[in-house]
Amino acid sequence: MSEPAAERGGLPEDVLVRVRGLCKVYGNNEVLRGVDMDLHRGEVIVIFGRSGSGKSTLLRCVNFLEDPSEGTIEIAGMTLEGGHRTRAKRERIRRVRLYAGMVFQQFNLFPHMTAVQNVMAGPLALGKQDRRLQEELTGTSMDKDAVRKRAVDLLAEVGLADKTDEHPIRLSGGQQQRVAIARALAMQPEVMLFDEPTSALDPELTGEVLAVMKRLAVDRQMPMLVVTHEMGFAREVAHRMAFFHEGKILEQGPPSELVSNPQNPETKKFLDAVL
Ligand SMILES: Nc1ncnc2c1ncn2[C@@H]1O[C@H](COP(=O)(O)OP(=O)(O)OP(=O)(O)O)[C@@H](O)[C@H]1O
Ligand SMILES: [Mg+2]
Repeated sequence: MSEPAAERGGLPEDVLVRVRGLCKVYGNNEVLRGVDMDLHRGEVIVIFGRSGSGKSTLLRCVNFLEDPSEGTIEIAGMTLEGGHRTRAKRERIRRVRLYAGMVFQQFNLFPHMTAVQNVMAGPLALGKQDRRLQEELTGTSMDKDAVRKRAVDLLAEVGLADKTDEHPIRLSGGQQQRVAIARALAMQPEVMLFDEPTSALDPELTGEVLAVMKRLAVDRQMPMLVVTHEMGFAREVAHRMAFFHEGKILEQGPPSELVSNPQNPETKKFLDAVL
């Protein structure tokens, strides 16, 4: 989607998502304590850090599964902040959800639907208004036949051309996660958010999922925020790695620098433990 400059709310052309001063508090638990982050066109950012450091919360705030307590998120040409969900804001959030696809640790496919039905489910569930918006934004038809054709193509893209009519229960974890990636892509997102997409998988199945993500990054130049501790993937695919610590980005940089020469003792300690 190439929206007119005025619609982009003043963001530089190559910045797709800008997070500023993001804070999130649950009760008296300060989970995010002022996160600043830009995701650029074609960029892959790997976010890593200890359990409970706020990585999932950051991703969930970016697509407004959670409302920020403070700070702003500029995405899809709009600026959003926390606070009351007015009608206008809910409208904007719907737009954000079309813009940013998300893949979770638990794939959560619909068990009663086949792979292709799972991939078609999102687009077909859109209300009339969103469907029209989607057609306008992507220039593609949202008719059932067109949606099905794209779903079949997406399953082929993630290496599951022969599994379109299987139910999730008959698929391996890695295959299920690839269906989940195809399902997110079916909404034709401009950016992808991955929250530990391989950590529920047996080690021998993570490779096939990471390979799909790598192709997405390289062939499609899909911008993505990826929470993962797969350091091999990070080194090979990420443009930038960000170490999360106690609700903040403590250190970030290109993988080659960050991994081999971390500046902060916390980063070093963590890397020593995972490598
Ligand atoms: N809905 C919620 N209500 C209250 N507290 C929450 C909620 N979601 C997360 N938290 C708290 O926020 C903190 C950060 O959680 P978050 O899931 O973002 O961490 P994480 O870095 O993703 O950890 P992990 O590596 O274990 O997935 C934790 O202390 C968690 O208990
Ligand atoms: Mg998490």
